[in-house]
Amino acid sequence: MAAAPVGPGSDVVEHADVQALAFHAHKHHLHAAFVPLTFADRAAAGAWLADVASRVSRSGPGGRAPDERVQVAITGDGLRALGLPPETLDAMPQELMDGMASRARLLGDVVDELDRPVGWSLPAPGRALHALLLLYARTPPARDDLLERELGLLPAGVVAHPSELSDALRDREHFGFADGLSQPYVVGQLKDRLPGQDVIATGELLLGYRNAYGRYPETARLPGVGLPGDDLGRNGTFLVFRKLEQKVGAFWRYFEDQAVALGGGVTADWLAARAMGRWRSGVSLVHAPDVDPAPATPPPGANDFRYVDDDPMKDDRHGLRCPIASHVRRANPRDARGGTPAESLEVVKRHRVVRRGRSYGPAVAPNEAAALSPDADAGRGLYFLALGASIARGFEFIQQTWLTSVGFHGTHRERDVIAGGGPPDGEEPRSLTIPARPVRLRLHGVPRFVHTRGGAYLFLPGLRALAALARWAASPP
Ligand code: HEM
Repeated sequence: MAAAPVGPGSDVVEHADVQALAFHAHKHHLHAAFVPLTFADRAAAGAWLADVASRVSRSGPGGRAPDERVQVAITGDGLRALGLPPETLDAMPQELMDGMASRARLLGDVVDELDRPVGWSLPAPGRALHALLLLYARTPPARDDLLERELGLLPAGVVAHPSELSDALRDREHFGFADGLSQPYVVGQLKDRLPGQDVIATGELLLGYRNAYGRYPETARLPGVGLPGDDLGRNGTFLVFRKLEQKVGAFWRYFEDQAVALGGGVTADWLAARAMGRWRSGVSLVHAPDVDPAPATPPPGANDFRYVDDDPMKDDRHGLRCPIASHVRRANPRDARGGTPAESLEVVKRHRVVRRGRSYGPAVAPNEAAALSPDADAGRGLYFLALGASIARGFEFIQQTWLTSVGFHGTHRERDVIAGGGPPDGEEPRSLTIPARPVRLRLHGVPRFVHTRGGAYLFLPGLRALAALARWAASPP
């Protein structure tokens, strides 16, 4: 049998040219450091990119050193600082070139009268963010050693901001819920498909491949630096990096207070699970609406469900098992977005992201969280990382149209309790509706538990493109 063709116009993934993070979560590398960088000097930036490219982990077999992972991503301002020609910059997506801070209002972040984000520490005030170096290692000393080595290799013209250090990767995020369960299966990925995994086209993750519309979207060209077809995009993707502080104490205090007020055996755990759409164990409310079967690890079928089929409408009510307003149902409405279930599944496939988040700050047990003082209820959260071929159609669509929407699917004055953003507490009435029989429950005055502390939109280039960027910056043709 003839080998499948590889290269432009082919759907065979060139794994050796793809940064590993696109297809691998680096789950055995529990400790991460994210280093924000400023390119103060263009030639120095080019020299550094050329040097670090040899250490960048690739997706293909043999492309990853066993104990370390290194990835590099560049912001729109970073591409400008590398001196790319205007036609190349103009062909990059608008949202990348605008940068995350300028989109803060539409993302539901708190902004000032000039729409500038409030409460951000990343990038550091007054510092331009041009690139992010992502480092992963197996132990804290190995991570610190890798970080020190990489910082030592930065030339004078590439300036590091304070590093962002993750907590050890666990299967739980800070509110205490199992995380990392639902990921799309990307055609061409090296691992097998899991039960319930939606299949998305390669071009939904990687540039240069056929996407959910059956098209090969145009990508930016960079001539004169030896790229096949001058294609800068091929085998690259976009990275959303968001630092989200979680008020874990406020979260559990609120649900404990609501449980006491409601009485009748309602618990904080039961209410918080309605906000998330899953129990802390990871079991979906669709599978177990009343009691958490509480397995130590989520069972193999934990992601194998639909809403229309498995949580059907009764007595004219939707979401009796899993509330429509819950985080997971908003973030991926599966077959229940509208139209027929099959139509909904097709549409939803155009709005999936590959999540690669890591927690930071000390963990706190959910049963101890409510007792945290306000001072201790700070400094922990999620580095939310999401990858996709379109930031606008993936992350921004989910955030804007589903999570922050105050009228999502017939809800009223509700935002996603987990990541729906919105103005500061007290400026907007926020509720959570829990469909129930004979009468629904409605929680009022839901505080904001997650606060954005910064972030960036970045381009995660393929390996050839990274080397080409280095060549261009070092000596433009
Ligand atoms: C601190 C903030 C956040 C926390 C604590 C959080 C937590 C969780 C948890 C526990 C799950 C269920 C487990 C899983 O499927 O992996 C989940 C699912 C998900 N989250 Fe978040 N999340 C946060 C922010 C976000 C943001 C900002 C987005 C996107 C814009 C997002 C998108 C998703 C998606 C797409 C799913 C999968 C839904 C599904 O396919 O069923 N999350 N999240």
